[in-house]
Amino acid sequence: MLRVGVIGCGAISVIHFDAILKNQDAQLVSVCDINLEVLDKTTSKYSCNGYVDYSEMISSESLDVVHICTPHYLHKEMIVKAIGLNINVVTEKPVVMNMLEAQEVECALANSEAKLAVSFQNRYNPTSVVMREYVDNEVLGQLVGIKGFVTWQREPESYYANSEWRGKYATEGGSLVINQAIHTIDLIQWLGGELTKVDGSYSTKAFQEYIETDDTAEIYFEFSNGAKGLFYGTNAYSTNSPVEMELHFEKGLLKYMLGKLFLVDQEGELKELARDFLPGKTGKNYWGASHEKAINAFYQAFTAGGDYIDLVESITAIDIISQLKKAN
Ligand SMILES: NC(=O)c1ccc[n+]([C@@H]2O[C@H](COP(=O)([O-])OP(=O)(O)OC[C@H]3O[C@@H](n4cnc5c(N)ncnc54)[C@H](O)[C@@H]3O)[C@@H](O)[C@H]2O)c1
Repeated sequence: MLRVGVIGCGAISVIHFDAILKNQDAQLVSVCDINLEVLDKTTSKYSCNGYVDYSEMISSESLDVVHICTPHYLHKEMIVKAIGLNINVVTEKPVVMNMLEAQEVECALANSEAKLAVSFQNRYNPTSVVMREYVDNEVLGQLVGIKGFVTWQREPESYYANSEWRGKYATEGGSLVINQAIHTIDLIQWLGGELTKVDGSYSTKAFQEYIETDDTAEIYFEFSNGAKGLFYGTNAYSTNSPVEMELHFEKGLLKYMLGKLFLVDQEGELKELARDFLPGKTGKNYWGASHEKAINAFYQAFTAGGDYIDLVESITAIDIISQLKKAN
């Protein structure tokens, strides 16, 4: 049985708790949060030990795995400390805020037995799995173009003004791109293959009064097989629209919209290939509902072996983001 702890008991943590409790190889033994009220509620709910100091928790609970669900600026420090104690880590995205921090994590991993998994759960979505099959099997020929749109709504008064860490470079490391759009940017590069060009920019179009970071971005990609990619994203839309993607192959088109993946036939008719949104899931559907699969894959790596999303897999998205220029 794997002894598991969680650091950070805010919004995303409920999905981690859900997955840990359902996993037969895992036992939730302790949680940590600096907010005493949150900590109290969480320890009562899950009947586990509670800590305000994460260093104390990871050095005294003999943990096999720790989940990091804290603000972005804390990820690197917490990962490096846990890995240094040979504790395996599941961290929320972004794994780190920049490539310099990535080097420190790489170094910690090289000197440890521990493994690191990153929550890019959308790669496990049923629709992403089918997209990947079409790319790998070349059923419609080679991929020649890929685009993704993230048009979401963050109410600046409630989402940014009330948060201590969001909307600031020092603590969030950026906003739309590194926080919300990172999943779709990752899917574009994961499906597109080796990158040969990234040219993009970010800007603050709507929330200047509230944040110093970006609320909007656009990116152009080129891949080594000649395929092209486009990305547009904003947090300043009127609602949280489901992410849209298009995969253009030599002999056909796949469309991802409303949480479903369609094959577009010669007459423009849509045939559903897969769907993501499942009723009754913990968390928000538009986040992507595959945390449980991602966490299970990591736990399975200890018991039976298998793949999971590690630092190398997760770092290309950070590399892309670090190449974007400020547009205003
Ligand atoms: N994968 C996804 O789709 C997804 C969705 C939402 C959020 N996230 C990620 O999850 C992480 C957390 O986001 P959130 O929305 O849950 O934030 P949040 O602000 O709701 O929760 C963060 C929690 O961490 C606690 N915390 C802060 N500093 C701490 C410290 N030093 N030690 C222990 N606890 C500390 C806070 O008190 C808070 O309870 C971020 O990295 C975010 O990008 C991922």
